Amino acid sequence: MPDIETRADCELLVRTFYGRALTDPIIGWLFTDVAKLDLEAHVPRITSFWETILLGARTYGGGAFRPHLELNAKATLKAGHFERWLYLWRMTVDELFEGERAELAEQHATRVAAAFQSRLRNFEALQARS
Ligand code: HEM
Ligand code: HEM
Repeated sequence: MPDIETRADCELLVRTFYGRALTDPIIGWLFTDVAKLDLEAHVPRITSFWETILLGARTYGGGAFRPHLELNAKATLKAGHFERWLYLWRMTVDELFEGERAELAEQHATRVAAAFQSRLRNFEALQARS
């Protein structure tokens, strides 16, 4: 199996992942019903995110956390949602690619998921105090 080498590979990964995530019984509704995700607008941004991380491109400008904070205000993103997200992500990566970048894609998603969760919980704790 190939490793992730090009932007087209990143896009394939992202599209395959969202194909699953959007129809997933555990997290699908967060994208479709709560966020009402416009997939065609989202795919280029998220492809740029991964191209930046995995291929050293500078196509992603940052600020990935904010939409999750907004989503969390509408429907709490729980640990189980993040676990499911990561499970689908790893499954998709493993199915399509193999190698250092594929590893990095899994590792970095795990780190970002942990960071997002702690930021969400910190934010909620701050709000509860005010
Ligand atoms: C090739 C090296 C790396 C690149 C290009 C990279 C790139 C990125 C990008 C673009 C983001 C999103 C930032 C945003 O939207 O604000 C991010 C987030 C993050 N990265 Fe990396 N990263 C790299 C290596 C690492 C390493 C080595 C670690 C940890 C050991 C790490 C941990 C994180 C964490 C925890 C976040 C989430 C931050 C947050 O929003 O709270 N990254 N990274
Ligand atoms: C329960 C887990 C998650 C849910 C339900 C979720 C859902 C969403 C939604 C609804 C958006 C906004 C799309 C839009 O309106 O433009 C979004 C954006 C995004 N998500 Fe997630 N997400 C989750 C976890 C993650 C994780 C773990 C990562 C990182 C690996 C991630 C990376 C991103 C990025 C990079 C964006 C694009 C931000 C931008 O527009 O710049 N998400 N996500």
